[in-house]
Amino acid sequence: MSDQYDADMVAQYDRGFTEIPLRRYVELPSVYQILGDVTGLCVLDLACGTGYYAKELRRRGAARVVGADLSEAMIRATRAQEEKAPLGVEYVHADAGALEHLGDFNVVTGIHLLHYASSLEHLNGMCQSISRHLKPAGRFIGYQLNYDVARKPHYYDKYGFNLRISEQARDGQPFIFSVTLGDYTSPDITAYYWSKQSLESALHDAGLTGLRWVAPAPSPEGIEKQGADFWADVMRSPFELIVIGTKS
Ligand SMILES: C[S@@+](CC[C@H](N)C(=O)[O-])C[C@H]1O[C@@H](n2cnc3c(N)ncnc32)[C@H](O)[C@@H]1O
Repeated sequence: MSDQYDADMVAQYDRGFTEIPLRRYVELPSVYQILGDVTGLCVLDLACGTGYYAKELRRRGAARVVGADLSEAMIRATRAQEEKAPLGVEYVHADAGALEHLGDFNVVTGIHLLHYASSLEHLNGMCQSISRHLKPAGRFIGYQLNYDVARKPHYYDKYGFNLRISEQARDGQPFIFSVTLGDYTSPDITAYYWSKQSLESALHDAGLTGLRWVAPAPSPEGIEKQGADFWADVMRSPFELIVIGTKS
């Protein structure tokens, strides 16, 4: 699996990906709500990127936070930030599909992770990494494309995402997307189509039970700032979903 996130992307990502309204007012508050109180918990954040969630969860009182990411540039940038403003987050440069044992965690997050699995073997490897790192009754929280609606071309342009997934996409097929932030548009990024059913099977086979999908919703602040009309499409057909499972 190649590392698509180079230094330029990292700078742009850090500069403002979080400012995209969909992320700021829908993704972040929805994920925090599902996570609940993390005080004293051990959290492994897979595909941590520049450590946005890892840092925030540590600030919110998590006892141990480890972030792992495939991109050397992402890990280098986030380690440099940790050196400048230490929060005590540990960062590991690794493929989530082939992870050495990093400890036992109450929560594993995979925010925009599973669609980078480039084969069924890779997907199973990611799900096994998730399961192996969870204590019994520990929770996995993933943030995923909702492929039922994401295949509709241009559906999400207004939210800053340009996805090119064929209507006939099958499991393991690559697709291209880019993200627009103001006058910056990211280079094309390759990800892979996995049906909800395949994701559920891989998570279930790895030892996660009680799998459920939850639609993220705009926060009251987001509705106030952007207006209810702006969010009507995402409310009607959520483009991304949160998947939750428990280690049995
Ligand atoms: C869109 S970013 C999300 C970063 C972070 N989760 C966030 O929400 O801010 C996706 C990240 O997944 C990472 N990634 C892609 N494939 C991966 C893999 N096989 N193992 C670990 N990280 C991976 C990329 O390097 C990138 O940092």
